[in-house]
Amino acid sequence: MYSIQILQGDITRLEFDAIVNAANERLNGGDGVDGAIHLAAGPGLLQECLALGGCPTGEARLTKGYSLKAKYVIHTVGPVWFEESDHESRLLENCYRNSLQLAVEHDIRTIAFPAISTGAYGFPPGPAARIAMGTTREFLESGNHSMEVTFVCFDEGSLRHYEAQI
Ligand code: APR
Repeated sequence: MYSIQILQGDITRLEFDAIVNAANERLNGGDGVDGAIHLAAGPGLLQECLALGGCPTGEARLTKGYSLKAKYVIHTVGPVWFEESDHESRLLENCYRNSLQLAVEHDIRTIAFPAISTGAYGFPPGPAARIAMGTTREFLESGNHSMEVTFVCFDEGSLRHYEAQI
């Protein structure tokens, strides 16, 4: 059995087995949710990230959570939005699928995602929410996985897009 919930808040303050970071391909920190996660986790996180040697768009990497309440951070790199294209949508689907696959492999039962690619990378929030919910449901149902997945929206606008997908 799996469950999916949606809430508004700051992902760095929440207690889950893992939280997902919207990172860049160099895994060297940034602004937005990436900056907030590194700030809350402390310098050990950046050290471990840099030792991973990067992460291509659509893939995911796992680190410890350091000073976060979460035990693990799963770093995934969303696509930069240029125009409506299937290619970018497939890459965003891969972010959710690959992050969830890593979670399964590490026996992670509770995981929280931010709205990957919808900030600095410019992916429109409506289509991004549809991909996030649709890909997650499909992954959990097809593999019969037991997991609690939470989508954490930073602002109310983003929350509405996720609520429209229920
Ligand atoms: N908790 C939850 N969500 C957050 C938080 C937070 N503390 N801070 C920001 N967000 C939300 C944003 O409002 C946005 O909806 O996360 C979503 C993703 O925005 P970004 O963090 O800008 O991520 P993304 O669009 O994937 O861009 C990634 O930005 O910080 C850099 O290194 C990162 O280069 C990479 C790029």
